[in-house]
Amino acid sequence: MGRVLRPDYPIVTERLLLRPLDPVADVDAVHAYQSLPDAVRYVPYGPRSRADVAENLASSRIRSTFETPGHTISLAVVLRESGALIGDVMLVWSSEVHRRGEIGYILHPDHHGHGYVTEACEALLHIAFEQLELHRVVARIDERNAASAAVLRRLGMREEARLVENEWFKGEWTTELDFAVLAREWRERRAAG
Ligand SMILES: CC(C)(COP(=O)(O)OP(=O)(O)OC[C@H]1O[C@@H](n2cnc3c(N)ncnc32)[C@H](O)[C@@H]1OP(=O)(O)O)[C@@H](O)C(=O)NCCC(=O)NCCS
Repeated sequence: MGRVLRPDYPIVTERLLLRPLDPVADVDAVHAYQSLPDAVRYVPYGPRSRADVAENLASSRIRSTFETPGHTISLAVVLRESGALIGDVMLVWSSEVHRRGEIGYILHPDHHGHGYVTEACEALLHIAFEQLELHRVVARIDERNAASAAVLRRLGMREEARLVENEWFKGEWTTELDFAVLAREWRERRAAG
């Protein structure tokens, strides 16, 4: 089922490159943020040791090609100016029938506040809607993650649901906010500049 989609890497945006994660060369740069308790507070893993990061990057979960629904592409976010890897973003191909996907992201705290994640996610939405031909892309976040909600609003995603104590997450019940954007909404927004 499905079809192979390998975006042309690196994906170049105004200030960033998005490219496949290197399971050896990228371990230290990824560990620099995935090991920080504050950075991983609202993501489904960590804090990760260097060995955890190396194991994860080497696993088959870390892909840069979609071959079947259920696959996720995980990409390094690199500053064009310096070549530094400052975070990673992911796009999940959740369903072929419903043409649905999901985005996720994490950035080193040293690089927050410059719009880099918003810029990287715009590129993910481009892959989602123009290349994978999805109909709808969602993001699911912890309601306390205000910085993440702000990213999604900047991307033009609509807050659609608040699921009260929906997940037992890292030792507590957490309330989830669901955001979404449709392909036609994303196109209209781009056309409007
Ligand atoms: C969520 C997270 C990625 C947001 O990072 P961020 O840097 O705030 O997000 P952006 O890249 O969109 O940057 C937006 C900020 O840059 C500012 N900015 C500066 N230049 C900008 C530009 N050219 N374009 C857009 N924003 C710009 C914005 O004003 C905003 O600052 P503000 O928050 O003070 O208003 C970050 O907090 C993070 O990595 N958290 C940990 C991981 C996590 O929780 N991931 C999400 C799990 S659901």
